[in-house]
Amino acid sequence: MVDDSTLILPSLGADRDISAAALIELRGVGMTYPGPPPVQALRPVDLRVEAAEYVAIVGPSGSGKSTLLHLLGLLDIPTAGTYLLDGHDTSELKESARTRLRAEKIGFIFQAFHLMAHRTATENVAMSLVYQGVSRRRRKAVARSKLELVGLAHRLDALPTTLSGGERQRVAIARALAAEPSLLLCDEPTGNLDSATAEQVLTLIDSLHDQGLTVMMITHDENVAARAERIVTIRDGSLAEDGLTSK
Ligand SMILES: Nc1ncnc2c1ncn2[C@@H]1O[C@H](COP(=O)(O)OP(=O)(O)OP(=O)(O)O)[C@@H](O)[C@H]1O
Ligand SMILES: [Mg+2]
Repeated sequence: MVDDSTLILPSLGADRDISAAALIELRGVGMTYPGPPPVQALRPVDLRVEAAEYVAIVGPSGSGKSTLLHLLGLLDIPTAGTYLLDGHDTSELKESARTRLRAEKIGFIFQAFHLMAHRTATENVAMSLVYQGVSRRRRKAVARSKLELVGLAHRLDALPTTLSGGERQRVAIARALAAEPSLLLCDEPTGNLDSATAEQVLTLIDSLHDQGLTVMMITHDENVAARAERIVTIRDGSLAEDGLTSK
């Protein structure tokens, strides 16, 4: 948490389900896009993820991986079921409270880095805290420290166009970490990177997990999935398997 005066969620306390120790609990969560025609992208699924787990989500193209990630990230609202995030029943939340909960708890990394081209690395990370009432000075300090954490202390003032792919993804990771999230959601974060650069990014994600961050990683790549502690397989919108890796 970056600035506890602005990120407290007072209205959520009463909804908190103390018995739900899991960071994530999906109960019959499904998603049908309205279309037309309607597409049932996720059949009602149950899933529990404890804090500090590392879960890979694998499955063929079109199987519902990104749909699941969008629901987990509070970017979309399920059309069925209940999603508890850290004990909060997210289906009960108004849009403003969902946005706050997302900003406080969740960091995202996507295949495309989604950096602002005309902003420096520091500005890209700092901007993510603008809507959270964090002071300008504090935003800059947090941005610097997160960029240092991902190994970019020497590129603080660089524009994205002057950075390599791996460096750009590390800026995106620093941005995802700026608000000290509990959950890092990754959708093919190494999909645009060569294998050596991908390895560096995955090693960084491993180290964040070792420090206690909960990681959920969508990937097509078995070698990437093998780094997780658990592998959830989606096929045709159903969670077909939920196995433990050898880790
Ligand atoms: N906004 C939308 N409206 C309608 N259908 C959608 C929408 N988004 C996704 N779909 C459909 O839902 C299904 C699941 O899509 P999703 O993006 O979750 O797949 P995915 O597993 O992430 O695939 P990929 O590996 O190709 O990224 C697909 O049939 C897709 O065409
Ligand atoms: Mg996808």
